[in-house]
Amino acid sequence: MSSPALYSQEDNIAVITLNSPPVNGLGQALRSAIKAAFETAKSNAEVEAIVIASSGKLFCGGADIAEFAAGGFHSEPMLPGLLTELENSPKPIVAAVNGMALGGGFELALACDYRIALPGAKCGLPEVNIGILPGAGGTQRLPRLIGAEMATQMVTSGAPVAATKLLEAGAIDRVFDGASEDFVNAAIDYAKELIAQNAPCKTCADLNVENPGAEFFAEFRKSIARKTRGFFAPEKNIQCIEAACELPLAEGLEKETELFQECMQTPHARAQQHIFFAERAATKIPGVDPKTPLRPIKNVGIIGAGTMGGGIAMNFANVGIPVTLLEVKEDALERGLGVIRNNYEISARKGRLTEAQVDERMGLIQGSLDYADLADVDIVIEAVFENMDIKKQVFSQLDKTCKPGAILATNTSTLDVDEIAAATSRPNDVIGLHFFSPANVMRLLEIVRGAKTANDVLMTTIKMAQSIRKMPVVAGVCWGFIGNRGLEPYGREASRLVLEGASPEQIDKVLYDWGLAMGLPSMIDLAGIDVGYLTRQGNRDMFYGRDPSYTAVCDKLYEQGHYGQKTGTGFYIYEGRNKQSNPEVASIAQALAAEHKVSQREISDQEILERCLFPLINEGAQILDEGIAYRASDIDVIYCNGYGFPVYRGGPMQYADEIGLDTVVQALETYQNSLGEYGKTWFQVSPLLKRLASEGKSFKQYDAEQAS
Ligand code: NAI
Repeated sequence: MSSPALYSQEDNIAVITLNSPPVNGLGQALRSAIKAAFETAKSNAEVEAIVIASSGKLFCGGADIAEFAAGGFHSEPMLPGLLTELENSPKPIVAAVNGMALGGGFELALACDYRIALPGAKCGLPEVNIGILPGAGGTQRLPRLIGAEMATQMVTSGAPVAATKLLEAGAIDRVFDGASEDFVNAAIDYAKELIAQNAPCKTCADLNVENPGAEFFAEFRKSIARKTRGFFAPEKNIQCIEAACELPLAEGLEKETELFQECMQTPHARAQQHIFFAERAATKIPGVDPKTPLRPIKNVGIIGAGTMGGGIAMNFANVGIPVTLLEVKEDALERGLGVIRNNYEISARKGRLTEAQVDERMGLIQGSLDYADLADVDIVIEAVFENMDIKKQVFSQLDKTCKPGAILATNTSTLDVDEIAAATSRPNDVIGLHFFSPANVMRLLEIVRGAKTANDVLMTTIKMAQSIRKMPVVAGVCWGFIGNRGLEPYGREASRLVLEGASPEQIDKVLYDWGLAMGLPSMIDLAGIDVGYLTRQGNRDMFYGRDPSYTAVCDKLYEQGHYGQKTGTGFYIYEGRNKQSNPEVASIAQALAAEHKVSQREISDQEILERCLFPLINEGAQILDEGIAYRASDIDVIYCNGYGFPVYRGGPMQYADEIGLDTVVQALETYQNSLGEYGKTWFQVSPLLKRLASEGKSFKQYDAEQAS
């Protein structure tokens, strides 16, 4: 095995080449190798300057994530100390940045005296996205080079910035415009030039940061308040930049370490890191070879140009894949294409697309009323009405029309994918692709693996999801799969809590304050009270067969024509963008409470939170136990990417781990006993949840055990 950092010499220049594929993750082995190579260079009298470059496609991706997860970044040599040693080097060091320098990788470059970059290179400090801050000097050195304003922007957004822009700003000293193969030589030449000019070592310790003043920081905090609501790390990143403005480098570094430790100990950091790893785990399917040969996806058919079909079509057109969009009637097709064009025009007006791009994308979407136009497509995604008979007719037609090997997918949000597959003679080619609304925006794609779905169909759709920038998570077949099945008890409790005397405002506030993008009553109003009602009617036995009071308030609102935002009344009354409480809700709830022999009472905020979230966690455990989800962490990825759960809570299962599974079980058992028949019906604790709690285990441990 070759060394993670190679040492060579070119005349009077030492070259340290980072050589730890795939991304030069700064694990202990690479850190030690850099240190050893640096010491060799330092002690060799012939060496006058040092270049640090990469043998790979990028300079350095930052911390080694596996080591980071295991806490191994604490092992010596630790990055902050190593970078201070480099910074204090008596011989100038040039960082040769190609590709990306992210996190610790950018901090490494910042600790060097000079930086040369390829024009396509990007640098960034994305630590805020995993709930922490750059802890190896990034927050102290960067503002010294580019000023506090831009540094604040970079550390709080985590977004990488082009080297060309950093050249203007002062964090890059030279951009090399020649061929990338010549880049390391260009860096060596640059180092020689510096020596020839007797250029000094440029430590950031000698630079001060101009303080933009308290007003700047106050305004900046205000400008990101909405986006960063509930997060812990953005504020600490800002405090680090403030420290850089006020303190000498050495003291600023100490402050950065202190705030880094503070971030690391928060549930926010644990949750955000959990989601970071969960998203990477989600595409690994137990028992399926990740190298399974894939089917090509060069063109796509979509059936139904409604809310979902149109959005799905845009995803493909956006990445240059041609789409045939099929409808039953001309007017529905025209309407659907019109909505798509309008969406693109809105993006153009906001300056996100040019008119030429709008035309190009529209040119990739061909409308059709004829199934024969789908004969050659590689995949068809059906998005017609949520009705089993219609879906079966569509799939039987697809079976007759599509070429052998075409993937036949349904966007159903609740229906049995195996039953749909059975309407064809090729159930192995059938799969569920559950997009979320608006389908061109929402990142989640729940992939529903049928009993007979072929492995290559599954792996092809995972890859396809990534190519259209979605986050795929695989679920098994059951009513509502993972997302909507878990959401059902959550929605049920909102309706029931209103029946018991809570106001929609109180419920919304508790859930919003916990971090959800929107509380439940508001969400139900937005999604449509009619949509939920009709879905439940299709599954009466499953819900009302067990309890006639099931979502009584929502049902009554539906019967009275209050469908939510679309009719202007629901849990609230809507006038334009304003919403007010709907006084009828309280009287409906009162009457229904009497009918169902429920005594209304004052309900605490804590009860609201537990009643909404814990049944979702309980259902999650059941979903896991039934093998519908492969991992608890997959459930978290679904709720964080498709249902507005705050990443800093890490999803429902991570939240349960954080508060302890026994806490969840005890609360569920309390409600089981205190809510009469309703409690006995709906608050049965999942056997898996009960077992894990009694063994003192977490869902994370369960996932680890299942993986081993
Ligand atoms: P929609 O009512 O907006 O659109 C359905 C479209 O399908 C209509 O334009 C209709 O003319 C067309 N259609 C009906 N039968 C057809 C047939 N036999 N051949 C061709 N076109 C036909 O419905 P939406 O909301 O787009 O839902 C479609 C599917 O996506 C449903 O299965 C739904 O459960 C699912 N879904 C909906 C979500 C949502 O938020 N709206 C979210 C995720 C999934």
